[in-house]
Amino acid sequence: MESVGERIVRLKKERKAVILAHNYCLPEVQDIADFVGDSLGLSRKATETDAEVIVFCGVTFMAETAKILNPGKAVLLPDPAAVCAMAQMCTPEQIVAAKAAHPGMEVVGYVNSTAACKAEMDVCCTSSNAVDIVSSLGSEGAIFVPDRNLGTYAARSCPDKDVVVWSGFCPIHQSISVQQVAELKSAHPDAEVLAHPECRTEVLNMADVIGSTEKMLNHCRQSDRDEFIVLTEVGMRHRLEVNCPGKRFYFPESAVCGAMKMATLETVAEVLENMTNGVELPSEMVERARRPVERMIGRS
Ligand code: 13P
Ligand code: SF4
Repeated sequence: MESVGERIVRLKKERKAVILAHNYCLPEVQDIADFVGDSLGLSRKATETDAEVIVFCGVTFMAETAKILNPGKAVLLPDPAAVCAMAQMCTPEQIVAAKAAHPGMEVVGYVNSTAACKAEMDVCCTSSNAVDIVSSLGSEGAIFVPDRNLGTYAARSCPDKDVVVWSGFCPIHQSISVQQVAELKSAHPDAEVLAHPECRTEVLNMADVIGSTEKMLNHCRQSDRDEFIVLTEVGMRHRLEVNCPGKRFYFPESAVCGAMKMATLETVAEVLENMTNGVELPSEMVERARRPVERMIGRS
């Protein structure tokens, strides 16, 4: 009998599909993906593929971003309930009101936001280019939505810009505490500390390296150190272990994003078989959101 892995390989060929997976996905899902990466890498990959169908193993905002960049292609989400909690912390109406309250400021929006919010932004960013995007703004100031921690980090890195920071946050990264990090450091005194910029400022202040999940991987690959405390979601361990054999990684084990675990081998096979859970967005929304997303990937 055909295994689920063999079924995925067969269906992928039949549908001329590509599978993209985020670094936090389940290990077995990362292993069957054609490309695994961070939000920026995955968005760029979505524009480079000549596949007719994109299966996006991640959360809804990631699949929506791929659809904005590929309105003519089918973008399938293995489980449409995979919603990023932070992306729900800001509405398009709130952005419109903030623009009216701060005339002349540009809206910089973290990619962890809904497509409807992206349609109201001037430029999108990911955790890997937020600082570069804010520092290259033509205006003197920015309204940064929805992540307060990434917004504060970008603002601290660009002291010449006036940045109004939203109040949203990632519950998983926000829950990583100073005490947890102190305990990890005392248990592993030789480890380098890497933190995702969605962590609280106090936690970022304890890190040696701050960056996106892909920046973390690149750092661990080229570092001559053997041990790392990794302050992000635990799914990242698989990607690090596959790519850095012999090195050891310590995580705050409670940092688990349930939404990122919803893509399974079974749900991937099912959407490929039945072509279900396709992302649908109103064409006017796609039109308005395309420019900020293209600016994010460096295409305009
Ligand atoms: P990266 O773009 O760094 O992979 O982050 C995505 C994310 O959702 C972090 O919680
Ligand atoms: Fe959203 Fe946080 Fe999950 Fe990333 S880890 S997808 S920011 S809820």
